[in-house]
Amino acid sequence: MSLSREQMLVEMGISPIWVLRENEQPAAESVTAPLAVAATGQPELAPPLLQPTAAQPAPPIAPAAPLGASGMADIDTLDWPELARRVATCQACPLCQQRKQAVLGVGDLHPDWLFIGEGPGADEDAQGEPFVGQAGKLLDNMLGALDIARGNKVYIGNAVKCRPPGNRTPEAAELAACRPYLERQIALLKPKIIVLLGKVAVHSVLHDDKSLASLRGKRFEYAGIPVVVTYHPAYLLRNLPDKAKAWEDLLFARRVLREAASPVLPF
Ligand code: URA
Repeated sequence: MSLSREQMLVEMGISPIWVLRENEQPAAESVTAPLAVAATGQPELAPPLLQPTAAQPAPPIAPAAPLGASGMADIDTLDWPELARRVATCQACPLCQQRKQAVLGVGDLHPDWLFIGEGPGADEDAQGEPFVGQAGKLLDNMLGALDIARGNKVYIGNAVKCRPPGNRTPEAAELAACRPYLERQIALLKPKIIVLLGKVAVHSVLHDDKSLASLRGKRFEYAGIPVVVTYHPAYLLRNLPDKAKAWEDLLFARRVLREAASPVLPF
C-alpha cells in the first residue's frame, strides 16, 4: 500500500503545520553563508558507466583475490563495476571478518541526492542493501515527504560498507579504511547534494566532530558539492520530537539543491 504525502508526514510524526507552501520562507533556520570545508582535490573523473537503476541491490559478485591495504592505491581510478567488486571482496579492515556481505549502496547512479548513513546493521548485512530495517522505513518516509524515493534521483550509501559487530559505532581506523570507497562513490555519482545522516557520516565526509545541533542548518561543501547535515534515522526513532528538526533540515537541503541548480545572479 503506498502512502500519500500527508500520510508520510504523519508517519514521520510531523503535523500538517510543517507542510510549507511553495516559496514560503522557513520559520526557524536561516540559510547561513557557505562554509567551505576541505575538498579532496580529486581530479575530474570519468562518468559512471552504468545506467540509472531501480532500487535493486547489486547482484552477488564472485569473490576475487583478497585485497590488502596496498590494493587501495588505485581506488580513485576505478569505474563503478570494478569499485563494486573491490568493495565486495575488501579485506582492508577487520570488519570484513564478520560480515555476511559488504553493502556498497543502492539507487540511481546519476542522483540529485546522495544520503550517507553510518554502516550496515544486521538487516542490511543480510540483505545487501542499506537502510532496510526500521531506520530505513523512516528514511523512506522522509524521502517520500520530499516526493523522492530511493532509486529515483536518490542514492543511499554508508560511511562503512561492512557491519560493525553488534551494530557498534565504526572506529576511526575502520572509517579511514573505507573512506577511499566513499570518496570514489561520490566522485562517480556526482550528486547535486549530499545529506549526511548522523555524526559518523559527518566525521567521515567533513572530518568534523562538532555536535549535530551546531552543524544543522548550514551549507557545507565536499569537492564542490553542497553538503547538509541532519539526524540519523535510528536516532530519530529514539527521539521522536527531533523528527520535526529533521524535516526542517530536509526542507533546507531541498532549498540548497534548488539554489545549486539555479544560482541567484548577483545583479
Ligand atoms: N543505519 C545506517 O547508518 N545504515 C544502514 O544502512 C542501516 C542503518
